[in-house]
Amino acid sequence: MKSKAVRIDRNGGPEELKLVEVDVGDPGPGEIRIRHKAVGLNFIDTYQRSGLYPFAMPLQLGMEASGVVEAVGEGVTHLKAGDRAAYASAPPGSYCELRVMPAKTVCKLPDAISFETGAAMMLKGLTTQYLLRRTLPAEGLQAGDFIVFHAAAGGVGLIACQWAKALGLQLIGTAGTDAKCQLALAHGAAHAINYSKENFAERVKEITGGKGVKIVYDSVGKDTFDKSLDCLRPLGIMASFGNSSGPVPPFAPGILGAKGSLYVTRQTLFSHISSREGCQQMADDLFDAVTSGKVKIRIDQRYPLEQVQQAHRDLEARKTTGSTILTL
Ligand SMILES: NC(=O)c1ccc[n+]([C@@H]2O[C@H](COP(=O)([O-])OP(=O)(O)OC[C@H]3O[C@@H](n4cnc5c(N)ncnc54)[C@H](OP(=O)(O)O)[C@@H]3O)[C@@H](O)[C@H]2O)c1
Repeated sequence: MKSKAVRIDRNGGPEELKLVEVDVGDPGPGEIRIRHKAVGLNFIDTYQRSGLYPFAMPLQLGMEASGVVEAVGEGVTHLKAGDRAAYASAPPGSYCELRVMPAKTVCKLPDAISFETGAAMMLKGLTTQYLLRRTLPAEGLQAGDFIVFHAAAGGVGLIACQWAKALGLQLIGTAGTDAKCQLALAHGAAHAINYSKENFAERVKEITGGKGVKIVYDSVGKDTFDKSLDCLRPLGIMASFGNSSGPVPPFAPGILGAKGSLYVTRQTLFSHISSREGCQQMADDLFDAVTSGKVKIRIDQRYPLEQVQQAHRDLEARKTTGSTILTL
């Protein structure tokens, strides 16, 4: 069988993304073959393309998609041919029509969730799930607590705004334009700070009456790391989970003591979804949040697979909001 796929032969800019035709075989033990209906675009795809996250070449990109299972390999019991399914998972390779991949992190997609929504929500929604549900201060987060969440109008961000509100948390979101701040507020953020105009650490201190927050969720990285530490109360947690502005440079741990015995963690989804059971539990929680209407998945950009270069350019130029999918 043949499939269109997007591949890079070397690291570089969006111009390295090449549409090619690949052969797709039968699934081996523990694998499935899935025919995609839609593909999710994520910031991590740009790190894999640029080489910030290194992989062997050539590399078929993409970490998220939805579709219909065509065939299952030996030992796969949670899926069968004909099932609607969606996933966020390694190895990369979702930028295609058809692929063979490990079944472990592929979940059945509830009938109430469309294929496009499935492709737009798995990686970003499971990430929000493990951040807000599992990446917490020792005493947990209580209703009314303030949290800081950067890039609040982005794909992960708009899901986090809604989910945090449903949990009773007061999310202080940051975003790069006033329009993005309005979008975050409309999706449940309690406060929004335009961090390209305002000193967000000072604003967070004002909003919290000088106390600071118990946790900052920071996916922006280089540009926000230092000020994020200044948003925390003593013993607070800096949960770093991305590098959209570039990776955080090395720092001396002594600074954590001086700022109030802070904790720093660098989280990644793939540690949380490493077992089938764990991944399914997280997916069930996400499916419940979406089917109950607590969290709505906004697809603000759609690009045909052939226009994937433009999709990467727009994502990296901060032109997108909410989720983006590649259509087939
Ligand atoms: N570790 C994990 O498990 C995990 C999983 C999923 C996602 N992530 C991370 O979470 C972040 C959000 O992912 P996403 O796919 O939903 O992307 P996104 O938030 O839709 O897009 C990234 C956003 O980052 C902000 N940003 C700030 N400085 C930037 C810069 N110099 N260049 C580009 N963007 C900049 C922009 O929003 P403003 O214009 O409002 O600043 C931009 O829209 C990414 O950093 C991603 O790597 C991590």
